[in-house]
Amino acid sequence: MPPTGVRAPRSAVPGTDAAAVALDGDWRFRLFPTADTGVDPADPGDGWGSVPVPGHWQLAGAPDAWPHGRPAYTNVLFPVPVDPPRVPRDNPTGEYRRAFTVPAGWRDDGRVVLRFEGVDSWFEVAVNGRVLAQSHGSRLPTEVDVTDALGEGPNLLAVRVTQWSAHTYLEDQDQWWLSGIFRDVTLLHRPAGGVEHVTLHAAYDHATGEGVLRVAVEPARPDAVVEVPELGLRTRAGEEVRARVEPWSAESPRLYDVLVRTAAETVTLRAGFRTVEVVGGVLTLNGAPLKLRGVNRHEFEPTRGRAVTRATMLADVLDMKRHHVNAVRTSHYPPHPHFLDLCDEHGLYVVDENDLETHGFEPLGWRGNPTDDPAWEPLLVDRVTRMVRRDAHHPSVVMWSLGNEAGAGCNVGAMAAAVRALDASRPLHYEGDWSSEHVDVYSRMYPTSEETALIARGEEAPLPDATLDARRRVMPFVLCEYAHAMGNGPGGLTEYLDLVDEHARLAGGFVWEWFDHGIATRTADGEPYFGYGGDFGEELHDGTFIADGLLLPDRTPSPGLVELAAAYAPVRVRATQAPRTLELRNRYAFTSTAHARLVWTLVADGAVLAEGELDDVLAPGERREVRADDVLGDRLDALLADLDPTAAAWWVLRAVPRGDDPGFPAHLGLGAGQVLVRAPVPPPRATGKAVPTAGGWRVGPVELDATGRPVRVGGAAVRLARADAWRAPTDNDRIRSWYDAVGDGEAWERAGLGRLHERVDDVRAEDGAVVVTSRVAGAATDCGLRVRTTWRTVDERTADLVVELTPEGRWPGTVARLGWLLALEQPHAGGVRVDWTGLGPGESYADSHLAALAGRWQHTVDELQTRYTHPQENGARRGVTRAVLGLADGPLTLTAGEVRVAHRTVPGLELTARPWSDRALAEARHPHELVPDGALWLHLDAVQHGLGSAACGPGVQADAAARPAPATLQVRLRA
Ligand code: GAL
Repeated sequence: MPPTGVRAPRSAVPGTDAAAVALDGDWRFRLFPTADTGVDPADPGDGWGSVPVPGHWQLAGAPDAWPHGRPAYTNVLFPVPVDPPRVPRDNPTGEYRRAFTVPAGWRDDGRVVLRFEGVDSWFEVAVNGRVLAQSHGSRLPTEVDVTDALGEGPNLLAVRVTQWSAHTYLEDQDQWWLSGIFRDVTLLHRPAGGVEHVTLHAAYDHATGEGVLRVAVEPARPDAVVEVPELGLRTRAGEEVRARVEPWSAESPRLYDVLVRTAAETVTLRAGFRTVEVVGGVLTLNGAPLKLRGVNRHEFEPTRGRAVTRATMLADVLDMKRHHVNAVRTSHYPPHPHFLDLCDEHGLYVVDENDLETHGFEPLGWRGNPTDDPAWEPLLVDRVTRMVRRDAHHPSVVMWSLGNEAGAGCNVGAMAAAVRALDASRPLHYEGDWSSEHVDVYSRMYPTSEETALIARGEEAPLPDATLDARRRVMPFVLCEYAHAMGNGPGGLTEYLDLVDEHARLAGGFVWEWFDHGIATRTADGEPYFGYGGDFGEELHDGTFIADGLLLPDRTPSPGLVELAAAYAPVRVRATQAPRTLELRNRYAFTSTAHARLVWTLVADGAVLAEGELDDVLAPGERREVRADDVLGDRLDALLADLDPTAAAWWVLRAVPRGDDPGFPAHLGLGAGQVLVRAPVPPPRATGKAVPTAGGWRVGPVELDATGRPVRVGGAAVRLARADAWRAPTDNDRIRSWYDAVGDGEAWERAGLGRLHERVDDVRAEDGAVVVTSRVAGAATDCGLRVRTTWRTVDERTADLVVELTPEGRWPGTVARLGWLLALEQPHAGGVRVDWTGLGPGESYADSHLAALAGRWQHTVDELQTRYTHPQENGARRGVTRAVLGLADGPLTLTAGEVRVAHRTVPGLELTARPWSDRALAEARHPHELVPDGALWLHLDAVQHGLGSAACGPGVQADAAARPAPATLQVRLRA
């Protein structure tokens, strides 16, 4: 049954002069094990405890105490038997009590109303012992007219909230199960003759430059007047007026105050004039193609769950803008209404999604799915209706979404019809029914880039129904989810974004997802950490799948978010196939690049050799190629000629904002990119001789034992040195992608890469060098790497190492890396300073490196680590030509020489430095479990496997995959 005893849903306008009192604060509270609490709504709850409202009762004492149950995480599975619409007897139920007084004068005129912005999942409202309403729809508002139940003195408000209800079956979103009154509660005065609801139509006619405004009010009132002071407009409600305006877009979020007055009330709206339309199969805004560079956002804070504060909402919006995100899908429910006010104001395109997901029916073959059962139609229609009525006045909302992963069925059509009857001005979205029968855009989640390319060209596989197919084939295409940001990732963004740039049909997409939902908690000894599924004693859970965001739980931008900023940048800078050439592309739809300085630098060996500025201004959508040779002329070759041949030289171009910089990642600005203008040349072969010693040899600063094993490098003892092919699996490595027969982690396990053993075949002095021939292979497998290690003396303090790897045998799949592992005894490894030259400053991988630019960077080993919520491979730096490590007994300099993989030369090596081993990293479940072990663990790699998005979506693409292939790595060590 839809909610009973409630008022008609209405717009959540940002301003009104009608009085309101916030009822937030500590409410009396008691938790019962079943819905049948036996407590009289007239019982004031004297002697009960209290919880904060808004809040979830499970988090009421977090992270120190959990007096009212604990959070629980499942992705798809229902934590209750699938028995709709019934729920188990065990049903945690909160009884809330609060006294309130009605301000003087309110009752002389009009009504007194209680407004709940969100209560999870079912609730009953009583005032002074009188039960007035029952409601549900956790992320939707409910208003209850309490006028007739009010008494003279303080009034007793009683709210009973159950954790489980019939509506749980509609709210199976991938998130924590958290209950209670988690959004604001307000006492409203609704004056007689006031403005209950407004329908705002504020379109933009891009042909004439005019805004078209029409504001209707409910109930209709002849005295209702609409004013736009800034435009000098004054008209009657319901009438249409036109005026020249500045349009609204995410690029320029221009808003106009609109006042709607009756004698009893004035409400204020903020109108943005814009028109969203599908024109010829292209999604457009104000006549220009609309490209959504988006993220999926759940509401979340580590100690508050979905009871997010306004400060967090603002921080989310600003962090999105700083990382060049221009769109949000409010996965998978309408957000707190204030979030949409912020999107209007700061400029974000919003796909507002209905509070509907029935994913837990999928494992049952969708048997009993409410989406396809007419009995549920009124409930589903109630939900979309409440969303559209609440939010339709927001210019930021460019599309309605009927829900997520709720399967197909009759109620999709019913919801679509209900939305269209309320608002025909926005396209409809729903991914769950690929026929797209009831919607206006074709949407999918996690297709491969190959399939996306087919769709981009209108060449997708046909639907069985020819009429539906013909209809869908001319729809714009949206990736409602792509690039799963779980743990270290996502990799492979450009494959999708290049298609979006090239093809009119592609309207862009939304990365999954914005925030890692780690819940702040503590170990038994009080150590704080962020928990995920299974950390709260759940009977069923989905582990780390909840930690899949671009922001780490403490709001640190993950390397994935910095990469996203580079990938979404409005000024795209890319190397082209032509030598020493960059392509600039202005991705803005309405804005030229005049607000950006196009600054270039010639960077060699980490130093800036020359710099300058292009005086180009690119019009919206324009692209242009620039050649370093044209810009620098003869200077370029002259500068390169003077360079040390072992240095790489890069031409780097940045779009630097001229005015206010809202805090874009500093090295990226409004967009940056680079092209290699000169590849490094390996140093000539060293000719010094190894010196035989009592126990083996001495090669420059390196002592080798009789088996050719390095035992000291300069002053540092060696704990371990050998070829390596493994890494601590990322979440993407651990999970096999939908599109692959074997997962990467699985292949590495089968190849035994995590348990490598070395067999030494031969050690000899050859031509003054020490040459070690060995084989490294995993227990229980017969594939392995033949290794030839050559040590040559350069001088007393310098040695040359060449490691040549050749795979042998039959391999089950990819390798994690091909390189050399060196662990040096180092009591304070985390504090060791690393001064390095290469692509930085952050970590980068073969399919995630747009944010890594040529330069010279300084970090401590601790700073090189990324503390993913679930520990895993992290921190690799690529294109490293030199690194100086500040070891306890003096600096050790590593200089890359020849680096080759599968017979191709690579500019620089990949460097990783950690205060713990990969084994420890792989075994840790949370960052605090990682303890420095007294060694500095260095990986010097010729190649490392990319990241991909296998946890949800495709794995690593062929061009970023590390395969068993011959590899050579030359490194000069100077101690
Ligand atoms: C999608 C779903 C999201 C999330 C994601 C995996 O299928 O729509 O809600 O579960 O997978 O993280």
